[in-house]
Amino acid sequence: MLADELSKLGAEKVLPANGGVHFQGNWKTCYQANLGSRIASRILWQIASTTYRNEQDVYDTTLALPWHEWFSSELTVRVNLAAIKCPLRSLDFVTLRIKDAVCDKFRKITSKRPSIDTVHPDIRIHGFLYANEFTLYLDTSGDALFKRGYRKAAGNAPIRENLAAGILSLTGWQPGKPLLDPMCGSGTFLLEAAQIAFNIAPGSQRHFAFEKFKQFDQPLWTKLKKEALGKQHPITQQPIYGSDLYGYALSDARTNLEAAGLLDAVYLKQANVLEITAPTPQGILITNPPYGVRIGETQSLAEFYPKLGDILKSKFSGWTAYILSADTMLPKTIRLKATRRTPLFNGALECRLLEYKMIAGSLKKNNESD
Ligand SMILES: C[S@@+](CC[C@H](N)C(=O)[O-])C[C@H]1O[C@@H](n2cnc3c(N)ncnc32)[C@H](O)[C@@H]1O
Repeated sequence: MLADELSKLGAEKVLPANGGVHFQGNWKTCYQANLGSRIASRILWQIASTTYRNEQDVYDTTLALPWHEWFSSELTVRVNLAAIKCPLRSLDFVTLRIKDAVCDKFRKITSKRPSIDTVHPDIRIHGFLYANEFTLYLDTSGDALFKRGYRKAAGNAPIRENLAAGILSLTGWQPGKPLLDPMCGSGTFLLEAAQIAFNIAPGSQRHFAFEKFKQFDQPLWTKLKKEALGKQHPITQQPIYGSDLYGYALSDARTNLEAAGLLDAVYLKQANVLEITAPTPQGILITNPPYGVRIGETQSLAEFYPKLGDILKSKFSGWTAYILSADTMLPKTIRLKATRRTPLFNGALECRLLEYKMIAGSLKKNNESD
């Protein structure tokens, strides 16, 4: 899905890989991908890819790069390193050697070196070590792309924005089709759906690391942002519905929707999912219910899931429901047959997106067989 999305944003030679998508393009492609991708976590610019045997090889590869041509020594830097099947003893030591090489290069050329800031760095450098291959990237995004800039309230166990957007895409939901999240928490699904409905570029309310690069093309960036703004649709009421049991969750959703200028576009109400009725005869229900790992109510969830299944059966015939959960108990206790199961990661948490097609008439059949 990310590969499709990037192609639409102008990426070339798009190639899905493990955990990411490779693509090629110029700065315009890079800006467009950061501004327009709802699904990507980061857009990384590959600046080196080579074989290595030891820490010195990693240092030499890093030292050879023209860091001073990409950013100023006044900026702060952070180095991240990930490894799979790497034979080297200490990743911390390799991280240090990469940082040393960047600083040594700056000192050599400009007699000044950038400072390190691991919390709010201006520039992020990502290294990846495989068995004998070392790849280095300059992060063009800065903060991860799921940070859209509109979230003012996080609520209880919010889902990442890019995962919510990816799930909306997986379900085939299209603007205009009724959408309900009956356990909406801070409103992430509603917000992402509304942004899609109005063609709002997800990156239009934030800044990016590439704005600090020496190559930064301010006129091009201003033009692209202006074009994106011109493609937005006027905000109108949409068939997007959100509810939650708790007033404080709804207040978080309201705060976030308001910050994004989307409060008037969606319906919000306080309700127990076990007592609601479908707002329209057909539609798509997408939700991530409370689950044991985060909420710590395993006992009561064992009673909750079968009741949730009953409500879907009795009140949502004609709808397709998508439930995201890390809880292995849910599929067993909801007493519905999943028509599709998609493995997904919510951060580090492995989840399943379960699809349930609520066919009109299935309730009658179930009752007859009871
Ligand atoms: C995992 S959180 C959902 C997070 C949400 N997707 C977000 O991004 O913020 C589960 C939500 O279910 C709500 N909830 C729990 N029991 C409920 C019930 N019986 N009816 C409606 N909502 C309920 C909680 O208040 C919580 O906001």
